[in-house]
Amino acid sequence: MDIKNGILKRTLFCALCFSVFFINSCEWVTIEPIVPDLPPPDEEISFSAEIQPIFTSKCVGCHPSIKGLDLTDGNAYNSINNENYINSTTPSESLIYKKPDPNGNHSAKYSITESALVLRWIEEGSQNN
Ligand code: HEC
Repeated sequence: MDIKNGILKRTLFCALCFSVFFINSCEWVTIEPIVPDLPPPDEEISFSAEIQPIFTSKCVGCHPSIKGLDLTDGNAYNSINNENYINSTTPSESLIYKKPDPNGNHSAKYSITESALVLRWIEEGSQNN
């Protein structure tokens, strides 16, 4: 009788553990898609209003000069407007887009939205607008 009781208790205990495990693993999780907060597609990205502020807040600490790259207001456009930094054939290969990739290892990284803005600005012809 005692042995049976022991087995029964252990079986019940195991069943309890399993149900706790399964109940815990069955919660609803809302997966938020990572959709960058971009302006509507028919609106052009403005270098001065949208791109320069990214450089000013995240890059100018090091890039008034490093590697000859000057991202300060008034100088950034001329500094990056060449094939070194902007690949107009394959925008996603542009160094100014790739180097601070959100998942990259540069000392400063774009947020996902900033990265998408920079890419779209290049795709739209990297204008000084
Ligand atoms: C903490 C300092 C620091 C900050 C902040 C920084 N960088 Fe840099 N960056 C460097 C250094 C150092 C190099 C050169 C070494 C290398 O290529 O990684 C460099 C190189 C680069 C290059 C390649 C230059 C070339 O001609 O090879 C690009 C493009 C660049 N940075 C873009 C940016 C952008 C855009 C930002 C802002 C989002 C930024 N960096 C912020 C330090 C910094």
